[in-house]
Amino acid sequence: MKILVLNGPNINMLGIREPNLYGTETYETLVQKIKSYCDEKGIETAFFQSNHEGALVDRIQEAFGVFDAIVMNPAAYTHTSVALLDALKAVKIPTVEVHISDVSKREDFRQVSFVRAACFKTICGLGTDGYLRAVDAIIEFLGEEK
Ligand code: DQA
Repeated sequence: MKILVLNGPNINMLGIREPNLYGTETYETLVQKIKSYCDEKGIETAFFQSNHEGALVDRIQEAFGVFDAIVMNPAAYTHTSVALLDALKAVKIPTVEVHISDVSKREDFRQVSFVRAACFKTICGLGTDGYLRAVDAIIEFLGEEK
């Protein structure tokens, strides 16, 4: 099984940005944590973070026919991007939406998620463990570890 882990704008600033909301772990630590978890299960991973919407759209398109599933934290683009929604719909790769913070308890403008309609599950408010729970959800959804 091959999982692509995508992160949107400012996720590269983890550990520095608003630690009260996003914790003190860095992006590099997060990548290692997800990679170790997946390695143990024999799951291949690839990671991509960008502050640019089009770069994320390109990466989703390139995943077509290559990855079995996507774990995606679109960050601020969650609340604005029809382009990311359309890209996920185009490739039809099973996707889990992850948010480190509990967006449901935050500002009104964070209550909208454009990408959600193309995701089979949303996980929020579990800190970076949410990414691991997304991997668990993918294993369950796909029925077996390939
Ligand atoms: C976030 C929540 C978004 O509202 C915010 O713009 C982010 C991070 C989260 O992981 O909690 O950048 O996706």
